Amino acid sequence: MVADVSSLVDGERGLVSRRIFIEQDIYQQELEQIFARCWLFLCHESQIPKPGDFFSTYMGEDPVLVMRDTGGKINAFLNICRHRGNRLCRADSGNASSFSCAYHGWTYGNDGHLMAVPNERDAYYGELDQSQWNLVPVAQLDNYKGLIFATFDPDAPSLLDYLGEMAWYLDCFFDRREGGIEVVGGVQKWTIPANWKLPAENFAGDAYHTAWSHLSAIKTGFAGDFRVKASTQGAVLSPGNGHCIIALGPEDVAAPPEPDILEYEKQVRAEVEQRLGKRTSRVNPIVGTMFPNFSMLRAASYTFRVWHPKGPEKTEVWAWVFADKAAPDHIKQQLRLASIRGFGPSGTFEQDDMDNWQECTQTCRGVVSRKFELNMQMGLGHESYDEELKAWTSDFRLSEANHRRFYGRWAQVMGADTWQGL
Ligand code: FES
Ligand SMILES: [Fe+2]
Repeated sequence: MVADVSSLVDGERGLVSRRIFIEQDIYQQELEQIFARCWLFLCHESQIPKPGDFFSTYMGEDPVLVMRDTGGKINAFLNICRHRGNRLCRADSGNASSFSCAYHGWTYGNDGHLMAVPNERDAYYGELDQSQWNLVPVAQLDNYKGLIFATFDPDAPSLLDYLGEMAWYLDCFFDRREGGIEVVGGVQKWTIPANWKLPAENFAGDAYHTAWSHLSAIKTGFAGDFRVKASTQGAVLSPGNGHCIIALGPEDVAAPPEPDILEYEKQVRAEVEQRLGKRTSRVNPIVGTMFPNFSMLRAASYTFRVWHPKGPEKTEVWAWVFADKAAPDHIKQQLRLASIRGFGPSGTFEQDDMDNWQECTQTCRGVVSRKFELNMQMGLGHESYDEELKAWTSDFRLSEANHRRFYGRWAQVMGADTWQGL
């Protein structure tokens, strides 16, 4: 363990050390303390609707296979062969009743049990206890409104406890109408030379950069009007446990500018407000991060994504497009196109963000640069707990309060041996 992890984040003064974006031993500790213990997003149930459907992903750097078994139950296992460790399934997704390892042919059922071992009778003399060599399951798996999450830690709190008050904020993205959401199209995947925390904290609370970083994208007119008006409301909200949300005011429009989509949002507004309850008269959540690396956006694009860590200086972005399941097909397709245009790998917004995250990471390589702490002091002391919103809430729409809470939680989880008191 890195001895002085708590000294790397000073939440009270809003200062964060650059070491946490570049140093290998800190990254290794993140894999162990954060990614091997926290609840992580795997996939949406609409991606594996039928028995035998599977989806390959990662939890931290561990390859994981999410499968709906022949009986219809969803399970997740390490995607490694128990014989000599080959990656078992090489496909991104598909449907299969069993999986055979490419190296020596050990074969597993879609419920994870070891079904067959070539030459078991002669080479192993019938002495191999196959029941001991099934695929390794995750410790806990749960489904929140169609979102499938898992943790490797048997002692982690339940998913609902881990989410806490974040659950309602997830509903604002994923449960606005009857039937929730569905994934539209495939998963876009690309790699950026940036530390995973930079995109996570950007979605967590960086309302500040939007009108500046994305000025050229805004001027194209493709992405909606993000220019700040005198009437623009909003706040950054922290419902606890490191989860963070950016919200506009209830009257502020947040949707791609296509007339059909704007009309759709107008039509469903009363239904959505009734379903989500009275907090919608105060805030309109549009961006957020569920700690540590699952982010969502419902503004210029409707996307959720996972920031997969691939080393301190590398992140693999996996981005989905989503839509209300009850939305008409032409709206789903327009959302898909608008989302790719804004937040696909070559999207007008995404390119601006990636460039900044990359440079914020790469400047940490300098041993002198690394000594100068990052300033996350905006709005320090100008926030309070809002009983109705059930979240710490900034007084003004721009604040780095969520950055302080995100990194505060990071330091807590990095330094704690158990979940007690976390
Ligand atoms: S490594 Fe998989 S069968 Fe040998
Ligand atoms: Fe951005």
